[in-house]
Amino acid sequence: MDPHDRPIPTPLTGGYDVDENAIRFSNYFHVLRELVHMSSGWLALVPRFEDKLRLGEHIHDDARAVSKVRRRLYELRHPSDYPGAPAAGLTELLDRMETARTPQEYLDIAYGEAKPALAHAMRIHLEHLDTVIDEPTLLILRQVVDRQERHRLEIAHDETLAEHHPFSDLGALDIILREERPLGVLPQLDEPARDPFVDVTPDGDPYLTDDLYVNGDENHVPLEPEEQRHFFHGLMDAELCAAELMARNSHEHPEMPWDFHVDMARQCWDEVRHAHVHDILMRTELGCAWGDYPVGFGYFKSIYAFDLLGRLALFNGTSEQKAMWRHSHRRKVLQARGQEIVARVFDYLLADEVPHVHNGTRWGTYLLGGDERAYRARVGELREGLDRTGKPVASQ
Ligand SMILES: [Fe+2]
Ligand SMILES: [Fe+2]
Repeated sequence: MDPHDRPIPTPLTGGYDVDENAIRFSNYFHVLRELVHMSSGWLALVPRFEDKLRLGEHIHDDARAVSKVRRRLYELRHPSDYPGAPAAGLTELLDRMETARTPQEYLDIAYGEAKPALAHAMRIHLEHLDTVIDEPTLLILRQVVDRQERHRLEIAHDETLAEHHPFSDLGALDIILREERPLGVLPQLDEPARDPFVDVTPDGDPYLTDDLYVNGDENHVPLEPEEQRHFFHGLMDAELCAAELMARNSHEHPEMPWDFHVDMARQCWDEVRHAHVHDILMRTELGCAWGDYPVGFGYFKSIYAFDLLGRLALFNGTSEQKAMWRHSHRRKVLQARGQEIVARVFDYLLADEVPHVHNGTRWGTYLLGGDERAYRARVGELREGLDRTGKPVASQ
């Protein structure tokens, strides 16, 4: 066949030059990184369960988007790892996101301004890029932009803000090379927030006795309907506390490597998903609902009082480790009793727990200069100070 008989391709358009392209990705990086950082800070203080659930998923989604954006920046700007600091126009928005005073004020700025401005800039980018020369960008942005638009629809916020956001194109803003933008950290938590219909008391649900949480021969599997209702209600709250701890670990330690934040974001999402599973089980299988019994933050506070290494060693390295054993035992007992769905839930909880325990080992070891034995020794040391339910007797 004559080579000239092949169909004539659409001409290239050229799109953006590499520098303009890298500047756009730098701006996306800043918006997405601060969304992950600040949403991780606020998640514990957002009261509505549905918002926590969505927020946990969005944090993870955005954290993965940051990884992709960083990778593309690295490709475009090799070998520079850091994208430079944002210029005044974007800094103004990021500063407002950082200084919001209430969870709703934060969600209004994050979902009413930052995400729409980001999605708008990405749409412009997609319209102007050369789909052949710059195919890697095309594929990344297509994914990320759809998700940003989905996120916006999933969390209640002030919709009117998007109409007057000041950015005609956030991607085209300048970047100040060789400068860094530090991340602000919210004040320490007193305690997490719950839906207004959930009673928070110092001791939580009095029905839940210590025996439910003990490992060993005496490990108890709740079998009676009334017992299961209280048990799953308590478990749902424990999952939320776990998500909140992981989110705060990420937020309070911006100095940690990026992969740490991705791991914390993933675990935070897993934990809110677990809470969602329990929420459904209670309503559909057990005849109770979130808010039927009181909850307490004693365990959360006892872990939160530690530094990052202590939290990882005690929560991931100990509590999650022991939960694996309990989940596996519960799964077998419930399966034998014919509670198939509930048993299946424990099957997945158990599977998810494995990487959660690993997060403790990975980042605890990192904090101890790469010495995994030192981490295991620290776990052993801290375990000495636990009561029989696994709660630290005295904080630090
Ligand atoms: Fe969990
Ligand atoms: Fe977990």
